[in-house]
This record gives sequence, structure tokens and C-alpha cells, in this order.
Amino acid sequence: MEKKMLFPRVGGFLHGGDYNPEQWLDRPDILEEDVRLMKKAGINSVTLGVFSWAVYEPAEGEFHFEWLEEIMDRLYANGIYTVLATPSGARPAWLDAAYPEAMRVSSRGVRNHHGGRHNHCMSSPKYREKVAIIDRKLAERFGKHPGLLMWHISNEFSGMCFCPICVKRFQEYLEKKFDHDIEKLNHAWWTTFWSHHYNSFEQIEPPYENGERSVLGLNLEWQRFTSWNTDDFMNHEIRVLKDITPEIPVTANFMELFGGLDYQKMAGSLDVISWDSYPRFHNDYESFQDTMFRNAFQHGVMRSLKPGKPFMLMESTPSLVNWHPYNKLKRPGVHKLASLQAVACGSDTVQYFQWRKGRGSAEQFHGAVVDHNGSEDTRVFRDVAELGEILGRIAPVVGTVVRTRAALIFDWDNRWAIHDAQAFGGQSKQYEETCMKIWLEFHKMGVEMDILRSDTDLEGYDLAVVPMLFMLQKGTAENLIRFVKKGGQLLATYCTGYVDEDQLCYLGGFPGDGLSDLFGIVDEEIDTLYPSDRNRIVFPDGTEWEVRDYAELLRVKDARILGTYGDDFYEGTPALTCKEYPVDTSAGQAGTPAGQAGSLADQPGTSAGSAGPSAGRAYYLAARCSTAQMRSLFLQMLRDAGIPTEDLPEGVDHHVRYGEEGTYDFYLNYNTEPVTLSGVKGLELISGERAEGALELGRYGVAVVRR
Ligand code: GAL
Repeated sequence: MEKKMLFPRVGGFLHGGDYNPEQWLDRPDILEEDVRLMKKAGINSVTLGVFSWAVYEPAEGEFHFEWLEEIMDRLYANGIYTVLATPSGARPAWLDAAYPEAMRVSSRGVRNHHGGRHNHCMSSPKYREKVAIIDRKLAERFGKHPGLLMWHISNEFSGMCFCPICVKRFQEYLEKKFDHDIEKLNHAWWTTFWSHHYNSFEQIEPPYENGERSVLGLNLEWQRFTSWNTDDFMNHEIRVLKDITPEIPVTANFMELFGGLDYQKMAGSLDVISWDSYPRFHNDYESFQDTMFRNAFQHGVMRSLKPGKPFMLMESTPSLVNWHPYNKLKRPGVHKLASLQAVACGSDTVQYFQWRKGRGSAEQFHGAVVDHNGSEDTRVFRDVAELGEILGRIAPVVGTVVRTRAALIFDWDNRWAIHDAQAFGGQSKQYEETCMKIWLEFHKMGVEMDILRSDTDLEGYDLAVVPMLFMLQKGTAENLIRFVKKGGQLLATYCTGYVDEDQLCYLGGFPGDGLSDLFGIVDEEIDTLYPSDRNRIVFPDGTEWEVRDYAELLRVKDARILGTYGDDFYEGTPALTCKEYPVDTSAGQAGTPAGQAGSLADQPGTSAGSAGPSAGRAYYLAARCSTAQMRSLFLQMLRDAGIPTEDLPEGVDHHVRYGEEGTYDFYLNYNTEPVTLSGVKGLELISGERAEGALELGRYGVAVVRR
């Protein structure tokens, strides 16, 4: 496997962060001192220009880039590279005064005032024109600068605009999507309901807060449109840059599980995925371990936007943020732990917001490497410098990647659909949480999963879990059927396959689009439980799983029943089923199972007369259960898929990065107590010592072992 280095020129990790020298142009002493301190902290890159438009272009058409050139030159001369942002995330006052159409319109149809950030209309031709001008100037001036590593497009895209230009564009988007046929749209959106029929595309308004919000197809398309339009805007910027600097990679910094934009689609427009990670460390509502594991999932989501490639941790705080409900300091050791967690999960960078604290305005108290006191003799500075050294020691990891044969389907479009569905429990849908818990359970067994959109072709994967895939895209069911028939181990859960991509319910039995046959069941009803309600799934061997929140009532066609409900009027009816498909290399006929009850331990792969690991299996779990209790099922699937597992001590996280010249195991201890791992052999890169079996990890300790 070849190395997938993002920045071969750098030859190591990027260690750096957002740097705002434009706020300090009247303090050349500080700008000089910055370079000295950066070198001391092992900083080799900065992100410049994120919100610098008003300094670049203080009045329309009047450009000033000398300051930036001077800074980039000086940094480069000192071995510090630049990630250069386009400044479209916030606009100068003159621009809004001259072109008010650039300002966003709210969901009540009222135009915002100037100010803030992310406050622009993505459709406005004038705004796009102004952005293209400044971007072109930057590319022309700095495109050939030896210090330039990458373009950072705008900043954390987000939000919706309801202005007349956006409305018009939305109508055009719909017209194209529905082949200029308004009746197609009326059918897809089921508009006869409440007399919501449209006679023409011009009549369609976005879902204003005080307007139409009951047509789910409209809501969904508005989300898709906003995401598409943002991507289109981003591509407008990318085109300008690529035109002049085709060789410079582009990224845009994403935010966690931000629901407003379909990152799975936008990822296609970017060369590299980057994201901003701000976990609420040491909070009072979950354990520190939980915070860390949750964050591992977030990294997994980002990594999986481009599987098989490193990503970038574009922002993280070296100490605290200023916008959490309570802004707690990272406890000693946590800076190293969280930064190396990103690396373990596949990041080739550790970058911060921000290098130096500003004196005024909203972020004056946000953590930074250099505090207002300007000193290098601080806890935070020492933490950062220590990390810089460690990144140097583990540099051989750069360009290696995370690989796996297991997949979790987690889909942005489905998020929109299931959350907008006026069904199930208001508080208990918890789609994201459900996906995350399953991912973590696998992860704690030492199994990494790629986190993929629902229409991904699962070729190359042997195991897939599809939680709550309420909405099926065109081709999703087909992919899943092919996957199982080729021998894949598949688990789908309650709430799968209710609606198609227009959010129209499938007729003829859920899950739709052929999945009812694949699983050999029909989901006839769903019982949404009150928070204190419980049911059980009982297995023939006496095991029980607790059921909360959701319980579907199944009719079994030709699946094997593995577990049945233990209580209520549906006691004794199927709750977990499996249908087997002996592998047919011509991908033709699927085998059908015996329809009697059995236990998980009786499953093929472990019992005599089984179809063996050469059988695909489609499991259907009709109820929400604790993932810890579901472990037996996961283990069975993993065994049948031939995917190894491992026993890790509580609170220890293990990730593996694979490369041509080596395989690197990352062990992270999320406990305050030391732990000892056994069976670890290889060179531990941080200490430079060989591990010969036992490996001790101290409080929040990290080890990077080259096998
Ligand atoms: C990010 C943003 C940065 C900064 C940071 C503070 O969301 O991209 O510009 O505001 O938050 O945590």
C-alpha cells in the first residue's frame, strides 16, 4: 500500500493553527516574537487569512496583500508553511452597504443586518462575483509561494438563506429535478394532502417558519437544495483557485455531526477532509471515557468521508473554548491524549484555534497557544511544545491509513428525513446516538468501522450494520441485497426502509424496495414506548435483552427466528431474525432458511450443519436494545465475516494505521489510573523503547507501537 501523504513537502505531521497576524499589524515586535515562539513550540504550519477580507480589501477594489506576503515569507524562511484561507466567511462593511443582497435572509423572510459571520447569501451573484475577485487575487499573488500548502475554503459553511434569489434558484433546482413537470413534484410530495397542490414551480416557497412546513418532500428538498447550493458556492470558489493553482489541494473545515449540510456529498468537492473538534472535556453529564469515545466516532465520521486517506484536524483548542456552556480547562495530559486520538483515528495534522489570543471582541478569551501574558512559560505552551516533539517522533505514521472490512451505514439524507418525520417518539428517535453506540460497541471489541452513506457500494466489506435507515435512496436496497448474496453479514434494525428518497412510504410492507424479501420479514407495526416502558427479547438459551423506545411487530416470511418478545400483547412474536444466503458465485438464487427458532449460538459458523462462513446473512432486529447486550450478535457476525476481535481493558482505545513500511498501533488510556496491556510487541515510538509483551499506559497515557 503506497503512502498517502497529504503534504509530501512537509514530510511529517502538520502542527499549527489559525493565526491572525492582521490583528497585530501595529505590533511588529509581537509578529517577530510569534515566529520565535512557533519554532519553540514545534509549529510548522499556520492557517492564515480566515477572516481577513477587510484587511485585504479595505475599500472596494483597493487591495493590500503586502502584509501577508511579508508574513508568509518570514514564516517560510523559518520552516513554517501556510494553509491559506479564502475570506468569504465574513464580509467587510463596505460590501454589505454597497450590495445588501449579499446579506442573508432569515426563515421569516427578513433580511439580516450586516455583521457576524456565516451571514451571507450563497446564491447572490454579486457576492459570488466579489468572492471570485478576492480569491483570484489571492491565488495570483500567492499561488506560487513556496510556503503555500493548501487552500482552506471559507470557514465552517453553515446556514440557510430565504432571500428572493435563493427562492428563485430553489424553484429552478426543483424544476430540473422533476423534469419540468409540476405533477411529478405534486405526486412525489403528496400535495393533495391538505390541499397543497401546486400549479407551477413559481408557486413554491421554501419552508418559511411562518409558512408551509407540513409537506415533508418540500422540507427535505429545501435541505438538499441548501446543501447543494452551499456546495455549488464552495465549488465556485474552488474553480477560481484551481484555475490558477491546480496543484494546490483544497479543503473546507467541517464541524462534527453538523446537520445542516450533507458532508457526505460535499466531500466529493474537496481534495482533503478537515474538521474542527471541540469536545466538552470533563463535563458533568458523562464520563471522560464517554467523551473521548464519542469523539473517536466523530473522527471516524470525518475519516470515512474519504476512506483510505488521512484527514486533517483543522481546529482544536490547546486549552479551553469560550462558547461551551461551561468552559473547562483540559486537565493535564488531555491535550496530548486528544491530539493523538485524532492521529490514531487517521489525522495527519494537529491544528489549533488559535495561535495567539486576540485582545478584543468575541473570542478574546478563547484558548490559544500564546495567552495574553505572551509567555512561553505556561502550562498550555509546554503542552503544545511537548506535542510538537511527540509528533516529530511518530512522524513515520504520516501517510498511513485506517483500513477496515466493516461498515456502519450512517446517512445525512436519512438524518433529515427521520428527524422531520412526524412519527415515532419526539425525544427518542436518537438516530445519530443509535449509530454511534453501535459503532462504539464494535470499536471496543477492537473493530474499526467505516461510516458510510447509504448508497455506498459495499464491495470490499464483509460486515455491515444499517441502523434505522428510515429512508432508502435509489440503489440502496440493491446494494444491500448484492452484499448479502455475495456473503456479507448484514444487520438492519427497526425503522428501516419506511420511505423512498422523496419520503413517500413504501407500499406492500416495510422494509421496502425488496428488503422485506431480503430479510424474510414484514414489519407490520411499530410500538413507540414511553421512556419508562420496557420489554425484552428472550432467546432459547435463556438470555434476555432489554427493549426500550421501539418495538416493531414482525410477520416472518422465511427467516429464522432467533429471539422473541418477552412481554406485552406481542409476547412470543419475533424480535430478532436471520435469513441466510449460501453464497452463489453467479449471484443468482439465494438460499432460504429453516423457519424455526434457534439461539445465537446455533448460528451458522459455529454449529454443525451450518452454511459456514460462505453464507451471507441478513439479520433484522425489530427493537432498540442496549448495544452491550447485543455484543453476542455482533461477535457472531464478526466471526462469520472472519474479522478478528480483541479484548481491551475498560477505557482503553485502540486504533491501527496501516502503511507500506509499517503498521502502527495506537493505544490510548482514557482512565486516570494506569493500565497494563498484554501481548503488545514492537517499537514504541514516543519513548523509543521496545515493548515485549506487557505495555504500561499511565494516566491518560498514549503509546504508538510500530509492529
Ligand atoms: C470554530 C471557528 C473558528 C473559531 C473557533 C472557536 O468554529 O472555525 O473561527 O471561532 O470555532 O472555537
